[in-house]
Amino acid sequence: MAMVKNDNDTTGRVYQKVVQIVEILVLFIKIFTEIFISTVKLFLGEKQKDVSGEIVLITGTGHGIGRELALQYAALGATVICVDINEAGNKETVREANSQGEGEAFGYVCDVSKREQVLEVARKVQKEVGSVSVLINNAGIMPTHSLEQHTPEEIRRVFDINVLSHFWTLEAFLPDMREKNRGHVVSISSIAGHVGLSNLVPYCASKFAVRGLLEALHEEYREKGITCIKTTCVSPYMVNTGLCKKPKVKFPGILGLQDPKDVASAIIEAQRKDLKDITIPLGLYQFGSFCRLFPVKCQLLIKDYIDSGVESDL
Ligand SMILES: NC(=O)c1ccc[n+]([C@@H]2O[C@H](COP(=O)([O-])OP(=O)(O)OC[C@H]3O[C@@H](n4cnc5c(N)ncnc54)[C@H](O)[C@@H]3O)[C@@H](O)[C@H]2O)c1
Repeated sequence: MAMVKNDNDTTGRVYQKVVQIVEILVLFIKIFTEIFISTVKLFLGEKQKDVSGEIVLITGTGHGIGRELALQYAALGATVICVDINEAGNKETVREANSQGEGEAFGYVCDVSKREQVLEVARKVQKEVGSVSVLINNAGIMPTHSLEQHTPEEIRRVFDINVLSHFWTLEAFLPDMREKNRGHVVSISSIAGHVGLSNLVPYCASKFAVRGLLEALHEEYREKGITCIKTTCVSPYMVNTGLCKKPKVKFPGILGLQDPKDVASAIIEAQRKDLKDITIPLGLYQFGSFCRLFPVKCQLLIKDYIDSGVESDL
């Protein structure tokens, strides 16, 4: 009897090993197929989705990247909902967008850090314009000084605007996207969401959080088989909007301040291609991951050599 049991155990173990080997082989075949497809796409260029007819809601449209996003989406024929706390700046964006004569733009004043205000604006937008199909969480602030000089109120405000507001807009617009079985969430993080930088402790923490939020949401939907809602996380390097008050730039030719128009068009391209995670310029993510393969001291030597960041604004 014992001998029969031993034979069965051995057969079971061999069977399990064979299954594991087959699974690993299948995994490798799938990985190489995906690498091949990505390489072909890289050379042939990827098709961009048509956004005319989409209703795109963008936060922080009163200035900077948000304003450029609103103008460019409207120029592509999308209906644009401009949301900002700054009424005058937002009105100017709406006026400019409408004067282009393509997609229509509508303005809403809202402090996105206030959940009730976000939910109220969402109700109005639904009634007055329709269902939002693309949500772009862009509004953000960036106090720039050492951690000791940040007040508790300032730290809370950074998280309220840069992180918690994303939860309120998701709460406001995701259920409708789920119901309609289509939608796209774009979140603006930053290179400061990949690398810790001095004078930006709360800001970096908030931008790391944005990346975590979107990656986890993507994973949750992927596991549930929900493929109709796309997510795109965008991490720009410094942009010439005035948000970075005292930027340190050692190599302006390679890593200088970027034009907000170019950054907005790269964000729209990423959304239209359904890209999951990008840096602007492209390739900084891969460069950062490559540097992290080196010992910490080497990473710091590279960081010191590049010497990019922000001076204190105080
Ligand atoms: N400028 C850069 O160097 C840079 C780099 C990487 C990432 N980013 C990110 O890009 C986004 C846009 O930055 P920007 O440079 O265009 O900034 P910006 O200051 O030019 O514009 C931000 C807009 O957000 C609005 N806003 C601020 N708080 C708000 C609130 N509580 N409710 C509603 N609107 C609010 C402001 O009124 C303003 O119109 C931010 O999330 C920022 O962190 C910027």
